[in-house]
Amino acid sequence: MPYKILEKKEIAMRNIWYKIHAPHVAKKVKPGQFVIVRAFKNGERIPLTPVMWDPEQGWVVLITFIRGKTTARMAAELKEGDELLNVAGPLGNPAEMEKFGKILAIGAYTGIVEVYPIAKAWQELGNEVTTLHVTFEPMVVLKDELEEAVGRHVLETVPIDPNLDFPTNMKNVTKRLVEKVREMLEQEEYDLVFMVGPSGDQKAVFEVVREFGVPMKADLHPIMVDGTGMCGACRVTVGGEVKFACIDGPEFDAYQVAWDELIARSGYYTDLEVKAFSDYLK
Ligand code: FES
Repeated sequence: MPYKILEKKEIAMRNIWYKIHAPHVAKKVKPGQFVIVRAFKNGERIPLTPVMWDPEQGWVVLITFIRGKTTARMAAELKEGDELLNVAGPLGNPAEMEKFGKILAIGAYTGIVEVYPIAKAWQELGNEVTTLHVTFEPMVVLKDELEEAVGRHVLETVPIDPNLDFPTNMKNVTKRLVEKVREMLEQEEYDLVFMVGPSGDQKAVFEVVREFGVPMKADLHPIMVDGTGMCGACRVTVGGEVKFACIDGPEFDAYQVAWDELIARSGYYTDLEVKAFSDYLK
């Protein structure tokens, strides 16, 4: 049956791996594209990245980070053998596949799962790819897979300090991320930097990269609803023009992105999201 959960496991704290039967996605998807998943009747539609796939066997792997009601419900209520309601896609544009040369591909938190298929394909194309994953200690994912797929994988972890609130802990990750990117750019010359992660972290990294004058691309994650250019939720300003991340992106030139607008728009529904999550956990 389509969308059957063939495998489900927790691969790190709050990170859940789902292997889904979705032949139409597995046949067509390219690195950089995404799908929109609806797991429950009347439930939210969430964009997720196929991390790996097999066109012959017809499966894709999706990894969710439990950050709200829907991802928490999926983790708690779905089991192997269950079916998702639908998996729409592949959506969005594939990542540009070119010989860029030396690439630094960065993932913050679960952003690394989106980096993985792109970095792997770039390496296979003959680029020299270094990946950097910065996250909390218990949230490391795809370490072995990245070590095998790219030239060099660098992992930087930050402990979660139980005496600090979550936003303060996240600031420690941002600090480590920015320091590490600076150190790596000082040590080596790169032809391209690529980054996936929270937009605040993307902006912080971009500001460092700009100092070194290295080209940078970023996969953007504004709020998405339909994923087909109809709803307008994923509107971003790039190079002074209105773009929709779902059909014009998700990859954009970091030098052209209106970062502050993106960060502000991404936080529009935070209060409602937090309320829905805490109501669900009650
Ligand atoms: Fe609706 Fe992009 S998600 S326009």
